[in-house]
Amino acid sequence: MAMNVPHIAVPPPGPKARKVLARDAKWIATTTKAAPLVVKRAYGSVIEDVDGNLYLDFTCGVSVTNVGHVHPRVHAAIKRQLDEFAHYAGTDYYYEVQVQLAERLAKLAPGRRPKKVFFANSGTETVEAAIKIARYSTKRQLFLAFLRAFHGRTMGSLSLTASKAVQRAGFPPMMPGTVHVPFAYCYRCPYNLTYPSCDLYCARIIEDLYEKTIAPPQDLAAVFVEPVQGEGGYVVPPKGWLERIEKIARDAGALLVADEVQTGMGRTGKMWAVEHTKVVPDILTTAKALGSGMPIGAAIFDARYDFDHQGSHSNTFGGNPVACASAIATLDVIEEDRLVENAARLGEHMHRRLEEMKEDYGIMGDNRGLGLMQATEFVEDPESRTPAVKARDRIAEDALRRGLVLLTAGTSGIRYIPALNIPDEQLDAGLDILEESIRKNAK
Ligand SMILES: Cc1ncc(COP(=O)(O)O)c(C=O)c1O
Repeated sequence: MAMNVPHIAVPPPGPKARKVLARDAKWIATTTKAAPLVVKRAYGSVIEDVDGNLYLDFTCGVSVTNVGHVHPRVHAAIKRQLDEFAHYAGTDYYYEVQVQLAERLAKLAPGRRPKKVFFANSGTETVEAAIKIARYSTKRQLFLAFLRAFHGRTMGSLSLTASKAVQRAGFPPMMPGTVHVPFAYCYRCPYNLTYPSCDLYCARIIEDLYEKTIAPPQDLAAVFVEPVQGEGGYVVPPKGWLERIEKIARDAGALLVADEVQTGMGRTGKMWAVEHTKVVPDILTTAKALGSGMPIGAAIFDARYDFDHQGSHSNTFGGNPVACASAIATLDVIEEDRLVENAARLGEHMHRRLEEMKEDYGIMGDNRGLGLMQATEFVEDPESRTPAVKARDRIAEDALRRGLVLLTAGTSGIRYIPALNIPDEQLDAGLDILEESIRKNAK
């Protein structure tokens, strides 16, 4: 399957796709389906559906296949490991590939202090691990997180998540002791201030108000932060903000947890998004792109916070050998093919093209992002900035029918997260489709 441009034989969902959709509706529980796309196979940045349509992939299965689908070196590593053994309870016994990956991640994480790694199977489990590490090591109970944050959907991480009401509705009470603060969302500043004259009021208010009222610093176990808010709308905080948050955590004697589940593994043009700053988190969580589709997550943390009893935290599948082999091969590909640098280069190109489009289409309120983690927030008009939710949805649907897979983010955003090695001409072909869809659907 080699090609540069999409090919739509039957507008999706075609007849074969419709059959799968009907069965899915009957048998699959609670979903958040984004589009009627039924994947048959995928290679690089191209997806083929069951009806023979070919699409360009600007989503990577939500920021997972950073080295492209079915990368030959990653798949060879997966197959090699499968031929050796597929599972042997890495928490109870030992195998080399898990130790190799742990050492690699510990050395890759920012900061000079020695690190340890806890392996899980998903993003939410890495956040659960971080919650437990923070409570256990600080003997404190309180957590600070941000409005519009997404940290997962299990009860602990859900308590930190504040992205969309639907994710929490019906599930209270949450884990006690979580306090949410508005994020540094300059396009819609919650305090109606302007950067930099605001002097980062959105960080200062934590000390000036929150710590003096509902979040006493001596009770604070950890501050959880996405260096770029993901599900919340690809919101990039202004320069200096993350450093202020780090200082607040340090002054309180709390841990700083950087949730890099979506931003990590080269996505933003650095291996970790915190590397755009001087911030060194105590715990860094990664999942999604780590295993190139093999389920794996890791909480990489300052070794001095390790549990002092064996078995304090554990699981059956975390650090599964096949997933570990996939992760090691993924890291090899990222490093050997210089994909972090490529993400930075392609991200600049993409941002430039989005900004050019914005000059013609007032519906594009804000283009923002780092590296190949870019998004547009769609608005009714640039003055009112009223979220253009319906137009945004129409654009994503229209793009799919033209052969470009997109995913929404935040209230009225679309995120663009292609593979870090997407060929230049495929990136441009995707952006051409996007522009056509915007032209068609902008009022
Ligand atoms: C920043 C962040 N943290 C945690 C999660 C949860 O990851 P998972 O869906 O693998 O549980 C996500 C998922 O989108 C995420 O973006």
